[in-house]
Amino acid sequence: MNGLLDVRVAAVRQLTPLVREFTLEAEHGALPGFSAGSHVVVHMPAPGRTLRNAYSLLGDPAEAQRYRIAVRLQEDSRGGSRFMHEQVNEGDRLQLSPPANLFGLHSEARHHLLIAGGIGITPFLAQIAELERRGASFALHYACRGGLTDAYRGELAGRLGARFAAYDASAGERLDLAALLRSQPLATHVYVCGPQRLIDGVRSVAASLGWPQGRVHWEAFAAAAPGEPFVAELAASGRRLEVPADLSLLEALEQADVAVPSLCRGGVCGQCATRYSSGAVEHRDSFLAEAERAWQLMPCVSRGCAGSTLVLDL
Ligand code: FES
Repeated sequence: MNGLLDVRVAAVRQLTPLVREFTLEAEHGALPGFSAGSHVVVHMPAPGRTLRNAYSLLGDPAEAQRYRIAVRLQEDSRGGSRFMHEQVNEGDRLQLSPPANLFGLHSEARHHLLIAGGIGITPFLAQIAELERRGASFALHYACRGGLTDAYRGELAGRLGARFAAYDASAGERLDLAALLRSQPLATHVYVCGPQRLIDGVRSVAASLGWPQGRVHWEAFAAAAPGEPFVAELAASGRRLEVPADLSLLEALEQADVAVPSLCRGGVCGQCATRYSSGAVEHRDSFLAEAERAWQLMPCVSRGCAGSTLVLDL
C-alpha cells in the first residue's frame, strides 16, 4: 500500500491540438469524493523514472464515480504533459494521489469572480457545478487562444450565458483586469488560475484597488521549469544526488527514495519546505518570505545553482 489510487483511463478526448481530456475510473472499488477546486497528482511511469504532475479535477464533485482531468501540452515540457499526450490511451493504468484542495470556494463571498487563463479553466469547471448547485452569484472570465487553449469555451458560453465572457488573444481581445475588479460588488471574492503573469496581474491590481488579501485566491500548477544540473547533498548521510537539468529537486529526492511531503508541486502550498545549510539557491516559489529563503527552499520548483553543492537538512 503506497496510498495511491489505481485508475484506468476510461476515455480520452482531444479538445484542441494542445488540450487533451482524460476520464479516469477506479480499478477497484470507488474513488474518494472531492470538493470543488481539488487536484490530484498523476504518477506517470515513464522509462527510467516516474513523472508526477498535479491536475485539477474538472468534473462535478457530486458525481465522483469518475474523475476528469485536462492536460495542456507544454512546449517546454520536462516530460509530464508530453507523456500524457503521447503515451496515455484508453484502457491504460495510472496511479493518482488522493484529491487535495488548495483552491476551495469561500462560502462567505457574496459574489464569486472567477478568472481563468488557458488550461487554468479546469478547477473552475468543478467550482461552477458547485456554485450552480448552491444558487450562488458568480461570473467567469476566460482568457484563451482560439483553437489552441480555448477548450470548453463553447460549452461554457451556452451554459452560463451572461455570466461568461471569453477574451481570445489571437483575435486581439484583452481582459481589462483593472476595469473588471473595479466594477465588482462589495464582498466579492476573486479566484484566478492560469499563467503566472495572469495571477501576478490579478494580485497586483487587487492590491492597488485595496482588496483585502483574504478575498484574493489563486492557484498555479506550473510544472518546474528546467534549469541547470547541480548536486544536492543530504546532511544526515552525506549522500550526494546529481540533479539533471530536466528533473526538479523534489523529483530527484523522490527518485532516490527520500520522502518529502508535497501537494501542489508548483511552489505555492508550502508543503515541501526543506531546510538547507549551504549552497546557492535559485528560489522560484511564491510561498516563502524573503527572510525565510536564507535557510529554506521549495524543492518542487527551486533548485541549486549550477556548479554549487546544495546541502539539505535531510
Ligand atoms: S509541493 Fe507545494 S510548495 Fe512544493
